[in-house]
Amino acid sequence: MVFAAAPGAGPANPWFHPPDPSYFEQGRYVYERNCLICHGAYGRGDGELVQNWPIHPRNFTKAVFKYRSTPYGKLPINADLERTIRHGVSGTPMPVFSQLRDQDVRAVIEYIKTLAPEWKNPDNYSAPIDLPAPPAWFNDPAVRAEHILEGRTQFFTTCIPCHGEKADGNGIAAPGLVDSSGQPIHPADLRQPLRSGATLQDAWRTIAVGINGTPMVGFDGALPPARIWDLVAYVESIKVAAP
Ligand code: HEC
Ligand code: HEC
Repeated sequence: MVFAAAPGAGPANPWFHPPDPSYFEQGRYVYERNCLICHGAYGRGDGELVQNWPIHPRNFTKAVFKYRSTPYGKLPINADLERTIRHGVSGTPMPVFSQLRDQDVRAVIEYIKTLAPEWKNPDNYSAPIDLPAPPAWFNDPAVRAEHILEGRTQFFTTCIPCHGEKADGNGIAAPGLVDSSGQPIHPADLRQPLRSGATLQDAWRTIAVGINGTPMVGFDGALPPARIWDLVAYVESIKVAAP
C-alpha cells in the first residue's frame, strides 16, 4: 500500500504518528534515567553497560525494530514498543520495565522517535496486520497433536534451510546469513523461549510479520493464517523444559 505524504495528494496514512514534541522533555528524562546506560546518550546502542555482550542494545538511530505487529520493513506502532518496554526481551539484557507509569512509557516512546529521521516519513508507517485469536483446538490435546504434525510438515518444507531439522538454528543456509548491516546473524533456536514474546499470538505475529533487518521475512500472505497456527503449535511443542 502506498500512502500520500503531501496534503491534498490523496488519503493521509492514519497510522502516521510522528514524534509528539509535547513529550520531548519528559521522554528525555525517562530515557536518561532508565535507558541511556545501555542504549547510549544518542541512542546508538553503545551505552556503558554494553561491553562484551553478544546481544547489543538496539541502535535507535537506525530505526530498525524487530518486534512489531506491522508488515516486514515498516516501523512499529506505539503498542509494539510499549510491549517491548513492559515485557522486556526474553533471553537478552533488555529489562522488564513494569514500574514506569503509563505516561512515562508513552513519553520515552515519543523520545525514541526523535532519534531517527525515518519516523517523520509517512511511507514507513503501516496498519498492524490482523492478529487472529488462537483457534480453540489449542485446548484439545488430541486435535492439537494433529495440528502439530501439520506444522512439522510445513516447518520441514519452509523453515529448516535456516532453522535446521532440530529447530536449533543450525540449518544449512545458516552460516551465510547476514543482517541489514552486513553482520553475520544466526537463526533463532526455536526450542528456547521466543524473544518476540511468550504467548501463542506473539509467535503467530512474529512468523507472520518477520523480524526487520534480518533474513527472517514475514510469512503473512505466503502462508494462510491457519498454516501459521499449525507452525505455532509445532514450535510450541518442541520447547525445551526450563533448566
Ligand atoms: C540493561 C540494558 C538495557 C536497558 C537498561 C534498556 N535496554 Fe532496551 N534493549 C536492550 C537490548 C540488549 C536490546 C536488544 C534485544 C534484542 O536484540 O532482541 C534492547 C532492545 C530495545 C528495543 C528494540 C525492540 C525492537 O523491536 O527491536 C527497544 C524499543 C528498547 N530496547 C527500549 C528500551 C527503553 C525505552 C529503555 C528504557 C526505559 C531500555 N530499552 C532500556 C538493552 C537494554
Ligand atoms: C532465510 C532464513 C530463515 C527462514 C527461511 C526462516 N527463518 Fe525464522 N529466523 C531467521 C533468523 C535469522 C532469525 C533470527 C532473527 C534475530 O536474531 O533477530 C529468525 C527468527 C525466527 C523467530 C523469532 C524467534 C524469537 O526469539 O522471537 C521465529 C518464531 C521464527 N524465526 C520462525 C520461523 C518459521 C516458523 C519459519 C518457517 C515458516 C522461519 N522462521 C523461516 C531466519 C529464517
